[in-house]
Amino acid sequence: VQTTERVAEILNRHRGMEGALLPILHAIQEEFGHVPQEALPIIAQDLNLSRAEVHGVMSFYHDFREKPAGAHVLKLCRAESCQSVGADRVADHARKELGIEWHETTKDGKITLEPVFCLGLCACGPAAIVDGKLVGRVDEAKLTKIIGGLK
Ligand code: FES
Repeated sequence: VQTTERVAEILNRHRGMEGALLPILHAIQEEFGHVPQEALPIIAQDLNLSRAEVHGVMSFYHDFREKPAGAHVLKLCRAESCQSVGADRVADHARKELGIEWHETTKDGKITLEPVFCLGLCACGPAAIVDGKLVGRVDEAKLTKIIGGLK
């Protein structure tokens, strides 16, 4: 089925819902693994928004991907509590070790690095989420191990 048809179907499911944009974006990301570029004008038109508005919401919430992710997704918490216990160091280490920046995927398509903002694991920061699984007290050594396990 064409992307546009699948997007239209998702829009139909949310017809008449108030504040439908976020649920729609989530549903699209669930369906495609990311929010395809060509979905944006369709959503905008359907909800009577500008494309820039849809894009603005997408980038405000860091949950949405514009490109497909790699085989594994490593998310590191960037929020305050984790930062106060070394999340920045862990993030630098991740970017160096993987050779990528936020929202990028390693060349072999294996690992995507994404920021998240609080995983509710503040007491055990720095926190990470590896393929949907929460991990606490991530330091450089632990991160190296995690990355090794994903390769
Ligand atoms: Fe990182 Fe809450 S600030 S889990």
